[in-house]
Amino acid sequence: MRGGLAGAWKPGTAKPAPLVVTIEDLNDDASFAIHASVQKQRHQLPVYKQRENLLFLVENHGTTVVVGETGSGKTTQIPQLLVEAGWAEGGRAIACTQPRQIAAQTIAARVAEEMRVTLGTQVGYSVRFDEVATRGVTKIKYMTDGVLLREMMTDPLLSIYSVIMVDEAHERSIATDILLGLLKKIIRRRPELRLIVASATMDTTAFRDFFNTSGEKLQTSSLGGSLPNRTPAVLFVEGRTHSVLVHYSDEPVKDYLQAAVSTAISIHKIEGPGDILVFLTGLDDVNAAVQMISEEAEKLPRALVALPLYAGLPASDQELVFRPSLSSRRKVVLATNIAETSVTIPGIVYVIDSGFSKQKFYNPITNVEALVAAPVSQASAEQRAGRAGRERPGKCFRLYTEETFATMRPQGVPEIQKSNLLSTVLQLKALGIDNVMQFDWLAPPPAECMVRALELLYALGIMDEYAKLTSPLGYQVSELPLDPMSAKMLLTAVEIGCQKEGLTIAAVMSVQTIWASGRERKEMDEARAQFGVAEGDMVSYLNVYEGYLRAKNQRQWCYENCVNYHAMAKVVKVRFQLSRLLLQLGGIKQQHDGDVKLVTKAITAGFFSNAARLEAEGGNTYRSLRGNQELFIHPSSVLFRASPKWVVFQSIIFLERHYIWNVTAIDPAWLSESAPHFYQLGRV
Ligand code: CDP
Ligand code: MG
Repeated sequence: MRGGLAGAWKPGTAKPAPLVVTIEDLNDDASFAIHASVQKQRHQLPVYKQRENLLFLVENHGTTVVVGETGSGKTTQIPQLLVEAGWAEGGRAIACTQPRQIAAQTIAARVAEEMRVTLGTQVGYSVRFDEVATRGVTKIKYMTDGVLLREMMTDPLLSIYSVIMVDEAHERSIATDILLGLLKKIIRRRPELRLIVASATMDTTAFRDFFNTSGEKLQTSSLGGSLPNRTPAVLFVEGRTHSVLVHYSDEPVKDYLQAAVSTAISIHKIEGPGDILVFLTGLDDVNAAVQMISEEAEKLPRALVALPLYAGLPASDQELVFRPSLSSRRKVVLATNIAETSVTIPGIVYVIDSGFSKQKFYNPITNVEALVAAPVSQASAEQRAGRAGRERPGKCFRLYTEETFATMRPQGVPEIQKSNLLSTVLQLKALGIDNVMQFDWLAPPPAECMVRALELLYALGIMDEYAKLTSPLGYQVSELPLDPMSAKMLLTAVEIGCQKEGLTIAAVMSVQTIWASGRERKEMDEARAQFGVAEGDMVSYLNVYEGYLRAKNQRQWCYENCVNYHAMAKVVKVRFQLSRLLLQLGGIKQQHDGDVKLVTKAITAGFFSNAARLEAEGGNTYRSLRGNQELFIHPSSVLFRASPKWVVFQSIIFLERHYIWNVTAIDPAWLSESAPHFYQLGRV
């Protein structure tokens, strides 16, 4: 099997099959017995029980909305049932989209095991920078919603797919929303295509109304035979959950991290058997909680094992989470939102809900998009509680009061309405949607956000004054699987002769962080300082990359330098793929080795709109040039103490203040040079 995640979830990690070895380890008889038990387990899933209904609806309706509790078998079973019913014959394939990479990878591995095939043959996956699938062979392809959008750039009607299942549609990720809008167009042209919209929340009205095209005239009647019903069908799959007793805090909680840790410890002390799942907001929280619980647990008589779970976690650590616990010890999984609906962890009986998740918020006036830990919706809180009742009656401890719950919004806001739309608008343009304002949106984004995005694309030189993609830059940027600002940085680097450095920086920025987690603050600061240069974080990454390449034993080198080995391995892979793409685009210019000034220039050319100026000499407060937002350099930046006068940065994260991340010191003259219209001359 290929792919880091293969086998992360083995058949039988869920009840009732108690399996700890892989099929390959066994002789044929034993493997047959295990397969039989996996099949039996399959047949007990609610979705499987509804297969006749499901297949009938898919056969007869253009769109079918399937609603079912997490764990009912939507993601793993529906594509298999479709294959069994013949939907993948004649070289056609079934696509199933996920908002998260980790879900696409782990589920593909699971389904490959269920079907007893090697991952990458009949079952495969495709996520950004990692495709394990074979064209013409793969019948079921799990992929991120973003990847399917990219496929549309080369195959606008997605003609190789007979059925497209948009999974986790309730999450309303940006890519899902765009995808749904485009798929609505495609089914008008391809009436033989079937859509399945799968959601874990009951409210299906939005999807049903959106896909109801029964009143429209058909654009094509190229197909003989009967046409599907153009009113969407809805299938409710009965849940398989047990009751969950919900406890609220009596008083508002001051520090949810501390509260989560002490709640986990007291569950371990007084409650019966069963694992614990804690919902926190992000990587930092998760790592801090793992450490706090591990320290506390040392003092306890019975073992309590703390495990992290977040997008981007290395495969070996994921495996620990999905492996069933030994009866002698209890596991507590510290997770981000990812465990809410998209992956299933066996053994969970207790849930602790902080009530928060990390959410994007975009302010088109200040042009600031920040990640903020914000209260979740009531629908999310219910989903989280539901994770406790999958195998038997469970308990959910909410770290907020019942009054607070009543003030939470019933449903989350679709991402498209609270994000910076730079990539979205570019993607639509690249797909030939000229009038992005008039696009058929499931929920339209605010007009100001669109205008901002159009303006910035123009300033980046990606679009011309008629809002068309420029040639070649606009087309090249849209071909690269990077955000438009990183893509512009990279293409500028190629242009001005520091392509090697541009590639490394773009690759590093496409992983969450290259630094190791769970180390002491002081140790981290020292490690970062050895690579640090006055130009800032992005240029310092070049030193880390060089050090990594030169190391004899890379794993050991990473450990000694507080660098995350898995992240670096990914950087190398991404960098290689990006360099191949550049070659196809006809890049490659002469190289001026090690000219740092050119590198910072290229960075400025991409990130000029994220520029800030030190407010007063000797201070540490910055103001964004556009929008005058108060900003601070994140303490993990190599420039945290240096406080250079002018900087550009990659992103903003809101903790108790707005912190800027991946910071580069620049010469302000480059700003007006890079974007004369954006920063009118003389103003800077
Ligand atoms: O998509 P949905 O949440 O409806 O369910 P699913 O992901 O298809 O999972 C169906 C069942 O398969 C779960 O209840 C788990 O028991 C099992 N499963 C598993 O054991 N390991 C996996 N990697 C995925 C699913
Ligand atoms: Mg699912």
